[in-house]
Amino acid sequence: MDIRAEFLNFFKNKKHEIVPSSPLVPNDDTLLFTNAGMVPFKDIFTGLVPAPTPPIRTSCQTCIRAGGKHNDLDNVGYTARHHTFFEMLGNFSFGAYFKKEVIGYAWEFITEVLKLEKDKLYVTVHEKDNEAYEYWKQYVDESRIYKFGDKDNFWQMGDTGPCGPCSEIFYDQGSEHFNTDEDYMGGDGDRFLEIWNLVFMQYERSKDGKLSPLPKPSIDTGMGLERVYAIKEGKFSNYDSSLFMPIIDKIEEICGKKYEYASGASYRVIADHIRSVVFLLAQGVNFDKEGRGYVLRRILRRAVRHGYLLEIKKPFMYKLVDIVCKIMGEHYAYLNEKKDYTKELIKLEEERFFTTIAAGIELFNEELKNTKDIFSGEVAFKLYDTYGFPLDLTLDMLRDKNLNVDEDKFNELMSEQRKRAKASWKGSGDSVKEDGDFKKLLEKFKNNEFIGYENKISKSKILALLDNDFKQVDSLQANETGWIMLDKTPFYAQSGGQCGDTGTINSSSKILDTKKFFGLNLSNVQTKEILKAGDIVKAEVSDTRDMIARHHSATHLLHSALRTILGEHVTQAGSSVEADKLRFDFSHPKALSKEEIQKIESFVNSAISKGAAAKTEIMSIEDAKKSGAIALFGEKYDSNVRVLSFGDVSKELCGGTHVKNISEIGAFLITKESGVSAGVRRIEGICSLEVVKFANSLKEQIFKINDELKSKDPLISIQKLKEEIKTLEKELRDRSSSKPIELSDINGTKVAVAEFEGDIKSKIDELKNQYDKIVIVFFNVVDEKIQIAAGVKNAPIKAGVLVKNIAKILGGGGGGRDDFATAGGKDISKLNEAMDSTKKEIEEQLI
Ligand code: ALA
Repeated sequence: MDIRAEFLNFFKNKKHEIVPSSPLVPNDDTLLFTNAGMVPFKDIFTGLVPAPTPPIRTSCQTCIRAGGKHNDLDNVGYTARHHTFFEMLGNFSFGAYFKKEVIGYAWEFITEVLKLEKDKLYVTVHEKDNEAYEYWKQYVDESRIYKFGDKDNFWQMGDTGPCGPCSEIFYDQGSEHFNTDEDYMGGDGDRFLEIWNLVFMQYERSKDGKLSPLPKPSIDTGMGLERVYAIKEGKFSNYDSSLFMPIIDKIEEICGKKYEYASGASYRVIADHIRSVVFLLAQGVNFDKEGRGYVLRRILRRAVRHGYLLEIKKPFMYKLVDIVCKIMGEHYAYLNEKKDYTKELIKLEEERFFTTIAAGIELFNEELKNTKDIFSGEVAFKLYDTYGFPLDLTLDMLRDKNLNVDEDKFNELMSEQRKRAKASWKGSGDSVKEDGDFKKLLEKFKNNEFIGYENKISKSKILALLDNDFKQVDSLQANETGWIMLDKTPFYAQSGGQCGDTGTINSSSKILDTKKFFGLNLSNVQTKEILKAGDIVKAEVSDTRDMIARHHSATHLLHSALRTILGEHVTQAGSSVEADKLRFDFSHPKALSKEEIQKIESFVNSAISKGAAAKTEIMSIEDAKKSGAIALFGEKYDSNVRVLSFGDVSKELCGGTHVKNISEIGAFLITKESGVSAGVRRIEGICSLEVVKFANSLKEQIFKINDELKSKDPLISIQKLKEEIKTLEKELRDRSSSKPIELSDINGTKVAVAEFEGDIKSKIDELKNQYDKIVIVFFNVVDEKIQIAAGVKNAPIKAGVLVKNIAKILGGGGGGRDDFATAGGKDISKLNEAMDSTKKEIEEQLI
């Protein structure tokens, strides 16, 4: 049975409109992730957005509960029914139907479509909700209707937002399978499985905790798809269903051990977590040090540690991506499109964690030995800070030991670290942004208009002047620096990666930079003559603006090239646009190949040579997104936005200043490609006359090289030089190996202690063949290291002992037989000392 389709169709037949699943990252700052089917409709419930027609909807929504109010992370793997990622089937009414109808629909679907046995079903209602109780009585015997308080039968999305009493439907999986103390209706056991929650949305909770009635009583329901799958397939755990079992099979294959339910928590944690990881990455969330990206990292690292428990000691999570895509890809096609990208990012993140996990676990185990009541907060912090163990991973490791972490100490150390980070940020000169007085001062002025899209020169009035400490002054004297605010300003304030404009005031005072503070454009000025508030002045943007515009427009073309050539997963992670260069950071798992760089360059250059006029339109953010304009993930936009397009090459939301036609860019060159952080690459590039400058400096270098080499073709000359060096080196080696070795004679034994370049072993053999009694020690310095070899024939000296003593002096080690031994040393400065002492040692033994 295709349960998703059955559900959606059932409600479609009841006139509901089917809506596709919304992203896991909601358009809502109060929530970490979409944690229920109602999240996309939140503003409709509260009346902020008018109800659609018809005012009834149904969906199958992907959800994540791994933080915030609904956090199932700690239970995952240890119960039969908890997940971080799951799908929620739901039907919604925005003031259309209420309790009576929704109870009727739910009963019909469960008994007639799913055909669950009626005598296995139980329901709960809120203790004060007699209305719901009465409706349920029509379908279910009173002995099966339970009343509970707010804890069980009042649902709310988060600490704030829509909420209301609810009624839940339970399925009894049988006492023969579940019989712990918690396996009763309302208990924490797995026997009575909650499958559907019907919420009677009636209130909105505000920040201060108060409940106020919603404009219209509404309905929000949620049925866990994984649970229904398990029941319909006759399984007692969601993890035994066809949604998970293929993943568990693959984990078995990787670790080579058989999965058993009782001892299989680690398999289940991994099977659950890989789904969250694959969906989040495919939807554009990346591993990060904070926010949603950090939750993603925590989930992955937790799974890796469970892999470690199964003795999987190298990256493996990425090997599960194929199977997740196979199970889910039919319903969520984007998973398949992003499959390779997802795999690579997972593998990289795993590799990163594998460099510290063993040392971290060792530290953890050491500390555990000393732990009596509570695990040290300092060590938990060290595990976090140095070894990349998120706190909940340490807690998970302590779970079966029944121990807790000293979280107070941990939090204290965390906040100290944050303070340190903030202090260094304050020192960067940005502290002015936090200054309340400054903000108050600027609030007086409300607005100063930016007229620089069309004008580079203007006659403007000085609205205000500020000194270097941002205190308001009536005037700035000649040869002073400060800040100037104009009523209409042609100067673009640094934002969206584009640098601030420079220029002049009255052709003499210099504008050094322009920045935005609390929405106002202020220019940093160095006066030549006195400037007074109220003066009318001529403001002129410097010509560098044209080069800035070229570089900015080129970043848009580059962005488009990257998405076309590398794939749609490329999203902008940062940019910087200046008069002489551009920098563009974007998500991509690995270094670009030479071919890719070439393709990207020629994509951009070919667009430039064809040319396309810039078109700017102001539209609502919804229309902009609908039109396909690229908006930055996580960026806050006003309700009306500026959309800039260049023909069909590029369309982006952007407030920057640009060329009128991309042909003005002239030429584009990538000067460097590098990595910034995990999964983020950086391209640096130049345009227009900067390309010519760059080419000229290269040309000059080549001329210099040619001059130096006295050749027109430096490559051939360099090759020749290399060959010559090789020949000379060989000659040198031959010469020194053919050089006669000086031999002394001590009581009839020949002795040689010398430096020797070349094959020392063969030379020793050669000498041993020539003389009857001989002791030889050779030293050969190669690549900053010393090779030592000793040969002894018919003499009362042991070669092995000899080299061992020498190596000690040279900071190395070695040994061997009595007649031949080798050793290595590092300390070249002790070479003479070592040779002298060797000579002495031999003499002492022979005399
Ligand atoms: N929003 C309700 C829940 O998540 C249906 O349980």
